[in-house]
Amino acid sequence: MAAHLVIAIDGPAASGKSSVARALARRLGFVYVNTGAMYRAITWLAVSKGVPTADTGRVQQLLHFTEITCGVADGESTILLDGVDPTPHLVGDEVNANVSAIATIPEVRRILTAKQRAYAGEHDIVMEGRDIGSAVFPETPYKFYIDASPEVRARRRASQGLQDSVAARDKVDSTRRTSPLVIAEDAHVIDSSNLTIDGVAGEIVGRLKLKGLVIGDR
Ligand code: CDP
Repeated sequence: MAAHLVIAIDGPAASGKSSVARALARRLGFVYVNTGAMYRAITWLAVSKGVPTADTGRVQQLLHFTEITCGVADGESTILLDGVDPTPHLVGDEVNANVSAIATIPEVRRILTAKQRAYAGEHDIVMEGRDIGSAVFPETPYKFYIDASPEVRARRRASQGLQDSVAARDKVDSTRRTSPLVIAEDAHVIDSSNLTIDGVAGEIVGRLKLKGLVIGDR
């Protein structure tokens, strides 16, 4: 059982969950934890060291020889790999193209899931990803799944000026064997296609209050 409150937000690529999770965390005074950034960081590590993402054995070896330090700065999760901050590289084309393959590797998921769970030992958190409600914190009663139509999601990613095959990532994420993207049975689903970030965050706050959570809404 987590020592602190956990709000789990899952959903497919470019559904708006990162922006919503960040806005919600600020509003509640919780720490925002971006688990996609962790999978992206490991992907960047493999790509930058020339390790093919399909070579599971070498990826695992790389992980065991790298010090992964997760922390918090300015209310948001941070990650360092052997003391290096990978943030500037995380939304590059190469990372976008390879992250879903890296995220299928059970040992990668095992290591990152343990680090994700550790956040709830220290902080109240809003954590977003693909498997937060289904696998990382299945016991939290506060689960949300944010969706948007494929057209809206492709448009959102393109408007950020980023090359990203959203549909291809969704397919790998939804069909992998370990912790696939699924809608947790008890998750509240929100279609964000026609909603603003604040609109979605507001719907979540309303739902949390309905569930009896006493929160300091800022
Ligand atoms: O921002 P976007 O929704 O495009 O992706 P992200 O949250 O940064 O996640 C990047 C990739 O990491 C996903 O496509 C998944 O392959 C993987 N991921 C995962 O497997 N499990 C998570 N909890 C978070 C991300």
